Amino acid sequence: MCCSFSCFSLPLLQLLISFLLISSVSTNQNARKNHTDKNLFPSNMNPLELETLFKIMESMSSDQNWRMSHPNPCNPGSSWLGIECKTGIDNHFHVTRLDFGTPPNPTCKNTATFPSEIFELPNLESIFIFQCFTHTSTAISFPENKISSSSLQQLSLRSNPALVGSIPPHISSLKSLQILTLSQNRLTDQIPVEIFSLNSLLHLDLSYNMLTGMIPFQIGNLRGLLGLDLSYNRLTGPIPAAIGQLLVLQKLDFSSNSLTGSIPDSIKQLNSLIFLALSNNKLGGRFPSGLTDLQNLQYFIMDDNPMFRQLPLEFGHLRKLQELRLANSGYSGTIPPIYSQLANLSALSLQNNRLTGEIPTGFGNLSHIYHLNLSRNFLFGVVPFNSSFLKRLGRNLDLSSNPGLCLSPSEAFGVNVGIDVCGSNKTASSIRPLKKSDAPFQGPKPFILTIFWVFLALHQILFSV
Ligand SMILES: *[C@@H]1O[C@H](CO)[C@@H](O)[C@H](O)[C@H]1NC(C)=O
Ligand SMILES: *[C@@H]1O[C@H](CO)[C@@H](O)[C@H](O)[C@H]1NC(C)=O
Ligand SMILES: *[C@@H]1O[C@H](CO)[C@@H](O)[C@H](O)[C@H]1NC(C)=O
Ligand SMILES: *[C@@H]1O[C@H](CO)[C@@H](O)[C@H](O)[C@H]1NC(C)=O
Ligand SMILES: *[C@@H]1O[C@H](CO)[C@@H](O)[C@H](O)[C@H]1NC(C)=O
Ligand SMILES: *[C@@H]1O[C@H](CO)[C@@H](O)[C@H](O)[C@H]1NC(C)=O
Repeated sequence: MCCSFSCFSLPLLQLLISFLLISSVSTNQNARKNHTDKNLFPSNMNPLELETLFKIMESMSSDQNWRMSHPNPCNPGSSWLGIECKTGIDNHFHVTRLDFGTPPNPTCKNTATFPSEIFELPNLESIFIFQCFTHTSTAISFPENKISSSSLQQLSLRSNPALVGSIPPHISSLKSLQILTLSQNRLTDQIPVEIFSLNSLLHLDLSYNMLTGMIPFQIGNLRGLLGLDLSYNRLTGPIPAAIGQLLVLQKLDFSSNSLTGSIPDSIKQLNSLIFLALSNNKLGGRFPSGLTDLQNLQYFIMDDNPMFRQLPLEFGHLRKLQELRLANSGYSGTIPPIYSQLANLSALSLQNNRLTGEIPTGFGNLSHIYHLNLSRNFLFGVVPFNSSFLKRLGRNLDLSSNPGLCLSPSEAFGVNVGIDVCGSNKTASSIRPLKKSDAPFQGPKPFILTIFWVFLALHQILFSV
């Protein structure tokens, strides 16, 4: 099932997810298009709105001719990919959707700059600008002294390497906004607190930018939020306790920032949470004991943090867990045997810690596991896996660089998991101290996630609203 998606890298997944979002929205919109529009005479556009649209096209499109070639861009027959219109009660066409940058939608010219006029289109519901601002630096801006389109539900500006500057506080005027995606741009400065007054927001994605400062406590105001992604920025300070107010949150990703402190106790209130990622930060301290309240959690991804403590027993009570990733974080002590009660666990990453003791015998009973990395620890004893387990995991089982581990000779035939058969002469010679470069905590590393279907689920939830 989901196994075949497990090796997708994060950017690739995001691409795929966005494609799904985009294609689904466009299907919805197409279905809404009413072809009886043809019978409305005259059903042209309000001249002001038409002129605004021409201005937007001129600042964006590589096709500079289209004012001539599409004098009535909303009319059926002359309609052009990347634009969708609806007939309003005034019997005029109104633009409801603009989509730039993803073929077959219009591509952007090298000198494309942010068209603040989009916020003057009165009926606009969604905007997608993907890989558009690539050469000429430009910033998100709003028209001066004009009321911004309050019907806008989805604003998606993604993968625009020349989109710079800060997120303008004025974004709070987009009162109907449900999906705000500003991922993979070069946005800087702090996240404006005004963003947290957008109380219709369902999905907020500011990932892969250069945002700085702390995560404002006002984030707790977004009571309807289902998905929150601030990963791959330069955020500092603690995770605000107010995060516990996001009671319906299903996906939370703060990976790859410089967050400090410990996971706040209030996290236990997020009992809709399915996906939680905190990898590659500077988090430490104890795990909140309320962690066991997160009974819907399926993914806990927290590699690369300076934890330097024992593995918490709490995870053993999160029975829906499918992925648990706690690599490169200085964990010591033994692997809690209670982890073998995670019957649905499919991936467990504990590599590059300081774990000692034996592998819990119950691990051999984890019937859904397909990826198990325990390499670079100080585990010892006979590996408790039989030959069918070893064959099932194959290359996805990594026990290497645990000097004291060995395979039972009866199970070892034809497998290579990086360790030797018990009693063989090689075992003795392979005992060697960890090299300095093998030491835990090697700093940031891209990590691999199995989040495809979580997004799929979120996306279905979002668009069934
Ligand atoms: C278009 O609208 C007309 C009248 O409002 C309605 O009868 C018709 O079923 C609609 N067609 C589609 C395809 O939605
Ligand atoms: C384990 O996964 C199966 C199949 O995906 C599901 O039906 C079951 O409810 C899951 N068990 C738990 C405890 O989540
Ligand atoms: C593994 O499963 C078998 C059969 O369900 C059970 O008898 C055995 O006790 C389990 N082993 C461990 C260590 O949990
Ligand atoms: C290996 O162990 C699993 C889990 O305990 C068991 O279901 C399976 O039958 C065993 N296979 C062999 C070949 O012993
Ligand atoms: C296990 O982790 C080590 C250390 O991070 C890595 O080099 C190795 O590729 C991983 N093995 C598997 C099978 O993922
Ligand atoms: C281990 O090595 C010794 C000497 O090198 C040899 O005599 C012995 O047969 C070897 N044992 C095994 C199990 O390979």
